[in-house]
Amino acid sequence: MELYFITHNKSKYLEAEEIGREYSVSIKLFDLEYEEIQDNKLETIALMSCKRVLQEKPELKNKNFFVEDAGLFIKSLNGFPGPYSSYIFKTIGNEGILKLMKGEEDRRSHFKSVIAYHSKNETKIHTGKTEGKISHDIRGEKGFGFDPIFRPDENDITFAEMSLETKNLYSHRQKSLRELLTSIAAFARKKIDGE
Ligand code: IMP
Repeated sequence: MELYFITHNKSKYLEAEEIGREYSVSIKLFDLEYEEIQDNKLETIALMSCKRVLQEKPELKNKNFFVEDAGLFIKSLNGFPGPYSSYIFKTIGNEGILKLMKGEEDRRSHFKSVIAYHSKNETKIHTGKTEGKISHDIRGEKGFGFDPIFRPDENDITFAEMSLETKNLYSHRQKSLRELLTSIAAFARKKIDGE
């Protein structure tokens, strides 16, 4: 089957492509920068993004595609920046987050990924969550976004210090993707059995 990931973020795409290979699904990049709505739920943002993509590219209506929205939720900041992660990253960045966390001992946080998958006029949501801690300083040069300040639990290195393959063992995105790819495989199996 053909499966498109609609994103302008090449790093996200490369992570997804690698997971797709494990499931023998070739995920294709559809490079599009669409305007995201603001909402306090990632699920709503992902669903609205899916709608926006269909408005901008009606030719995708009969294709299988997904969009993904992610956020970093910091416990001691009551879940901030959460669904506003993109804006916060652009404005204060990793240095700004570390400043806000200065002197804070509770570094617990999590990343959440929400996929909105469009197929045959239906949109389904798949989610993934990874618990971890905000590091005390910026570490590593790989990855993107908040990767240099996020250490997934049971690790003493940040996402930005990990290879793509290692990040893919722990990340929120691989979890939402595996959920999506598992459901696609189950649907395909049902179709074969029913025929
Ligand atoms: P969005 O899903 O692209 O809207 O992401 C919101 C913000 O979180 C952006 O600033 C991203 O750079 C950041 N972000 C999303 N996913 C990740 C990730 O896997 N690692 C680090 N930062 C991320």
